Amino acid sequence: MNRLVVVSNRVADVQRSTQAGGLAVGLADSLRQRGGVWMGWDGQTLKYEEEPEPRIRKIGAVTQATIPLTEQDYAEYYLGFSNSVLWPLFHYRLDLVEYKTAFLEGYRRVNAKFANALVSILQPEDVIWIHDYHLIPLAAELRQRGCKQRIGFFLHIPFPPPEILAAVPRHRWLVESLLEFDVIGFQTNTDLGNLQHYVEDHLGTEITEGRIKVGEREVIAGCFPIGIDVDAFVEMAERPNDEVQIETHRREILGRRQIIGVDRLDYTKGLPDRLRAFARLLELYPEMRKSVALMQIATPTREEVEAYVDIRKELEALSGAINGRFADFNWTPVRYIHGTVPRDALAALYRASQVGFVTPLRDGMNLVAKEYVAAQSPENPGVLVLSKFAGAAEDLHEALIVNPYDVDDMARNLCRALTMPLEERQERHKALMERIRKHDAKHWLDTFMAALEKGEIKNAA
Ligand code: G6P
Repeated sequence: MNRLVVVSNRVADVQRSTQAGGLAVGLADSLRQRGGVWMGWDGQTLKYEEEPEPRIRKIGAVTQATIPLTEQDYAEYYLGFSNSVLWPLFHYRLDLVEYKTAFLEGYRRVNAKFANALVSILQPEDVIWIHDYHLIPLAAELRQRGCKQRIGFFLHIPFPPPEILAAVPRHRWLVESLLEFDVIGFQTNTDLGNLQHYVEDHLGTEITEGRIKVGEREVIAGCFPIGIDVDAFVEMAERPNDEVQIETHRREILGRRQIIGVDRLDYTKGLPDRLRAFARLLELYPEMRKSVALMQIATPTREEVEAYVDIRKELEALSGAINGRFADFNWTPVRYIHGTVPRDALAALYRASQVGFVTPLRDGMNLVAKEYVAAQSPENPGVLVLSKFAGAAEDLHEALIVNPYDVDDMARNLCRALTMPLEERQERHKALMERIRKHDAKHWLDTFMAALEKGEIKNAA
């Protein structure tokens, strides 16, 4: 087996993953199984003139190679082009795009830095797998440095329709950079379809049976839905966690149920309307008062970007207002946690919650949805209420699928979930477990690697 070299903006510890986002979870689950090198930014910003060599650290079967960035790189490449241009745009939020020419320059400069660091550690037989929107021009940079290895790319977030993509300056350059990879992977058929439309409209070419002709080369473009290591997560959820158990018993004695939401604190996650839907549930069904609470865990992220400051303030105000309106001396309807919870505690919390409430306005896949399903006990499972705009909804049909813009629709489905008969819950859970097992972390890795190493396109979807 060839050595696998994975590259992403950040690297995560494959042995102690916290909930930092789908990319870290999915990749850690896959890399733990196959081993290899994981290269990325070390999260530090330093002053330097000359680019430092990558720092190498071995953790189990994975070798981490990391580089620092400068303050300017951080501002222009990370906060700027990646998270103030590509992130909102790829999530269909043109209203939040903040573009500056310097952002694009920083983006190109850092991709060149990544390429320099990478060529210093590459071996001829390596296969390279690059991840996410931060690193779209990296294949082109590597080719310019004489790199001959096969290079794949996986986009963890949605790929927008051409009408939206066209709002980014140099969009054609961006897509042409994407076509420098040997394999381009998306989460869903919708994303793949959007690339298809773009290449037809703007480049006068097409994707035929998963292949695009680019000059003399042939590029594979496919759909490879990311998954989790199901057994590992089931085991984590079954392991006793004292603090969660005490809390669960307390709720059981009081006959109260729990709805859980877990997200990075991001405007794409639909959090304000999620809270409003919970309030609407209490309004429409007064019998639910005192018998259910919402626990929302929101992990801080990208706090230097204005739009993230706004969403934080909005949520704090909303959860305060809902509690002010409905709380009783012995019942707090919303428990809003602005912080990080370790993944094993999350697994126990999912298992102890009767509803998993996952309502992004747009999401690449959303692994919280899959983790919630994996954490349930088959005898008495909870119900997943899932936005139709999460990539996961393309597959998880037995969830209660909702429109995250329609607060009443979400409230009704919350009520349906909370009153669903045991037999229906068991049937839905069984079907969902089969789906997350079929499209798990290993399947994602295997199908992508088959495309990258052997040019095989199995129907990954
Ligand atoms: C999303 C992105 C990832 C990113 C993660 C955390 O899941 O798809 O690429 O690593 O968010 O984002 P952050 O900006 O906090 O590193």
